[in-house]
Amino acid sequence: MINISVFKKVIFIIAIVLICLAILSLILFVPVSGKANENDYWKMTDEFDLSALDTIEVEGEDFKILQLTDLHYYMPHMTKDTDNVVKTLVKENNPDMIVITGDSVFGPTNLIYTEHVVELMDSFGIPWAIVYGNHDDEGKADKFWMGEKYENAKNCLYHNGPYNIGGTGNYVVNLTKDGEPFYSLFMMDSNTYMTYEGKKEYACFEMGQIAWYEWMTTNLINNGFDKSMMFFHIPLVQYATAYDEWEESGFDENIGFGEKREDVCCAPVDTGMFDMIKKLGSTTHTFAGHDHVNNFSVEYQGVVLSYGLKSSKQFYNDKDLLGGTIITIKGDKSVDIEHKYVKA
Ligand SMILES: [Fe+2]
Repeated sequence: MINISVFKKVIFIIAIVLICLAILSLILFVPVSGKANENDYWKMTDEFDLSALDTIEVEGEDFKILQLTDLHYYMPHMTKDTDNVVKTLVKENNPDMIVITGDSVFGPTNLIYTEHVVELMDSFGIPWAIVYGNHDDEGKADKFWMGEKYENAKNCLYHNGPYNIGGTGNYVVNLTKDGEPFYSLFMMDSNTYMTYEGKKEYACFEMGQIAWYEWMTTNLINNGFDKSMMFFHIPLVQYATAYDEWEESGFDENIGFGEKREDVCCAPVDTGMFDMIKKLGSTTHTFAGHDHVNNFSVEYQGVVLSYGLKSSKQFYNDKDLLGGTIITIKGDKSVDIEHKYVKA
């Protein structure tokens, strides 16, 4: 015979477990979404307004940017370790600005870690910018939800940007020196995935983004901002060609530096961003992330195509390729790139 009180206890425990599981799945998996600003509709005939762009006045002779990439916050027991890598880089290099090139958060906890990234970055008291990678929005929160957090952060320069050009978070930060145009920083969303010949592949820039880049760059040049650099996550197809040519040169030190320990994981097609960059002649450097164990920087057809250094041990990495990248824009507008390694 079944003991009724034991039976009741078992039912009670099962009910509690089911309620806990329901709450947990609600916390982790029910999506939360933000809203696109419908006024951010862009068209080629729009009038350009320079004052609508964020501007930073360069204080000293040089402007020092710390590029962080692929922080991949998602494992609670690794959070402190990742924070320490970032804090060490900021403390040792004293940058004027931080740019994060995607995959800052990852997995179902992206909501919690978006707020963590905001808190950590704001704590340094310097301007910071961020673009999305292919993994950022794979969790509970979408890009507009994360965008609201970034747009409302105290020191963050992020903007959702036009919602109709492709991607979320395409925006420009201008640098001035003595009040005069100095350099422009393009932050672009290289999107996530695409289907190509029936297979899931990494995405690339959409035609609308390239048209917007052309419009923005042309107007910037007309307003004295004749030099720019671009930050995004997934490397352009040309990163692979650039590396091959550099290899053929016998790794000429005048052309590049760094390593390639995995394939350049780019889109299977080229929508023409690099050709547009060359045509306009303003963008001197591009900075990507995405491939955690590639950190090369190579000049290709007059443009420096560069990877940042993976900035955390989360997801996958090589022990000896951990840190960040210091990009120094000098007074004469020449640019120095140096990886800063942090011991694992
Ligand atoms: Fe990544």
